[in-house]
Amino acid sequence: MAVIDIRNLEVGFDTPEGKVQAVNGINLSVDRGECIGIVGESGSGKSQTFMAAMGLLARNGTARGEILFQGEQILGLGSRALNRIRGNAMSMIFQDPMTALTPHLRIGDQLTEVLTTHKGLGKRAAAARAVAMLEQVRIPEPARRMRQYPHELSGGMRQRVMIAMALLCEPELLIADEPTTALDVTVQAQVLSLMRDLKDRLNTALVLITHDLGVVAGLADRVMVMYAGLVVEEGPVETIFTDPRHPYTQGLLNSMPRIDRAGEERLTAIPGQPPNLQRLPSGCAFRPRCAYAFERCEQERPELEDIAPGRRKACHRERLEAVS
Ligand SMILES: Nc1ncnc2c1ncn2[C@@H]1O[C@H](COP(=O)(O)OP(=O)(O)O)[C@@H](O)[C@H]1O
Ligand code: SF4
Ligand SMILES: [Mg+2]
Repeated sequence: MAVIDIRNLEVGFDTPEGKVQAVNGINLSVDRGECIGIVGESGSGKSQTFMAAMGLLARNGTARGEILFQGEQILGLGSRALNRIRGNAMSMIFQDPMTALTPHLRIGDQLTEVLTTHKGLGKRAAAARAVAMLEQVRIPEPARRMRQYPHELSGGMRQRVMIAMALLCEPELLIADEPTTALDVTVQAQVLSLMRDLKDRLNTALVLITHDLGVVAGLADRVMVMYAGLVVEEGPVETIFTDPRHPYTQGLLNSMPRIDRAGEERLTAIPGQPPNLQRLPSGCAFRPRCAYAFERCEQERPELEDIAPGRRKACHRERLEAVS
């Protein structure tokens, strides 16, 4: 059984200007010990997909579809039932560490609370385990850090505290939303290797949300590329890098620096802007930015279809050869 199984998920927001459809029918499942990378530019619906799973949508948001966590439908559960799962069997690392940390509580109290509420540990045992976890996330002087407040730590340290907190309960599913975006390159690599360690050691199912394909390269098994609330391509991580089949995936790759291609080609940004979700173009949402667009793309929205074992894409073009 998959740890999480998301079926036909739709997330919409009511706004004064009308409905914003942020997630438009997503299917996704993640097994134990598997890491799936979710990539796409800002605004493509990555975070809201998992905010819906956590039951943390903004008040103006509604979700439809199914979200099965270890076989149990959790979409629409009340906060009391969700609190049994959240921060326990299912944890999320948010893009901004301050979302997860309470400013007026010492680091130690926040970390141990996770263990006393969810794991029934006594205070002393919880503190010992928290210090050990801070060590595991390579925070120097963990005992001293326990007595500090979030604002006394650097951004990188706070991020690691949040990672420590998310992992303390040894969740079945860890959702990491842009976990390294705010960190410098060295700390970034350190945090990613930590997440890899923990996935391998505890067999945690991992969802890695990022706008940066470089981040998924070393960690994800499978990659799902999102655009305008839709999945446009999906496949094993190697194929996404060596043989992208969707023009958007290709665009993301061409705009990203790659060590294996240093000096070979210039970086090219994807032309245009991410779409306005309230005014999506007819047919394929990527059409205004796509060098391969043809008539059919204007008339018909491409469905996500199997193109090879384990690979799917939503594009009317079978092959992406140069267009003259
Ligand atoms: N509370 C909200 N009200 C209206 N629109 C929202 C709200 N929250 C998110 N959105 C919209 O949902 C879209 C997808 O957001 P998100 O999932 O956060 O994107 P990503 O994580 O891929 O950058 C964005 O265009 C955003 O404007
Ligand atoms: S369906 Fe058409 S517009 Fe959309 S990505 Fe494919 S070729 Fe481009
Ligand atoms: Mg996001």
